[in-house]
Amino acid sequence: MAHSLPLNLDLIRRSLATRSLGHTLEWHEEIDSTNRRAVMLAQGDAAHGTVVLADSQTTGRGRLGRGWFSPPRTNLYCSVIVKGPLGAGRLAEWLSWLPLTASLGAAAAIESVASVSVGVKWPNDLLVKDRKIGGILCESGSSPEGRQFQIIGIGINVNGTRADFPPDLRGVATTIADESGDVVDLNVLVTRLIQELEHYLEDLDLNGSNSVAISYRSRCVTLGKSVRASLPDGTEVVGVAEAIAADGSLHVAEIGHIPGNHRRMVPLRAADIVHLRPTPAAD
Ligand code: BTN
Repeated sequence: MAHSLPLNLDLIRRSLATRSLGHTLEWHEEIDSTNRRAVMLAQGDAAHGTVVLADSQTTGRGRLGRGWFSPPRTNLYCSVIVKGPLGAGRLAEWLSWLPLTASLGAAAAIESVASVSVGVKWPNDLLVKDRKIGGILCESGSSPEGRQFQIIGIGINVNGTRADFPPDLRGVATTIADESGDVVDLNVLVTRLIQELEHYLEDLDLNGSNSVAISYRSRCVTLGKSVRASLPDGTEVVGVAEAIAADGSLHVAEIGHIPGNHRRMVPLRAADIVHLRPTPAAD
């Protein structure tokens, strides 16, 4: 595991040129979870755009109640407080696209610091060659006065190697260093991440989901794949991922449902997706 230079808030501040994100930065050498800390700050009077960073997390939170592997000084752990949107008329659309939009910013930031091509597995897993290089956990809450906020939590596997992961992750996870051979300066990656996030969030705020949806569909490596989806109610859907709908849901044409030659199209709003490998053709 290559240890990176420690995060340096002065360096990050000097190179950031953003309108609202990252004007307040908080750094912890070790914390339980940057998302938990960001929720706490947002429940107080923390400003929109406040960013919490850490060198390591003791109980990093992942999607669907999982943990997030968070060893010290190799990876990026970052949470951004979002108090918006600016135009409140399209709140439902904004809320459903926020986690997908965040994945566009994170993917662009990674590609700007290393020669890798990042795909997004719906809804917001960051993949390189079908291995997970980063993940996003969005959480929401409200202040005691009832003001809504969202937290965008981003974890990126940066300068470690696959061998550093616990055995259950070794076959499915990867790092920027392993994929590109580059050791990445975490300060540069944080700066790019905040800038790219601002770019895509502004697009979503100002123009609605139309243009981020176009970018998302072209980044989404789930489209066209055979998938198995585990739903929050414990049921499973197996089929082909056919479309990302206007509300950001994934539409899966379920295999095995052909009554009257109609395939059942299942819209998924929350699910854990596995990309299935094509079965080799029988002789
Ligand atoms: C996933 O399961 O794919 C989402 C992982 C999100 C991890 C990041 S690390 C920074 C932030 N703080 C957390 O506790 N979780 C997110």
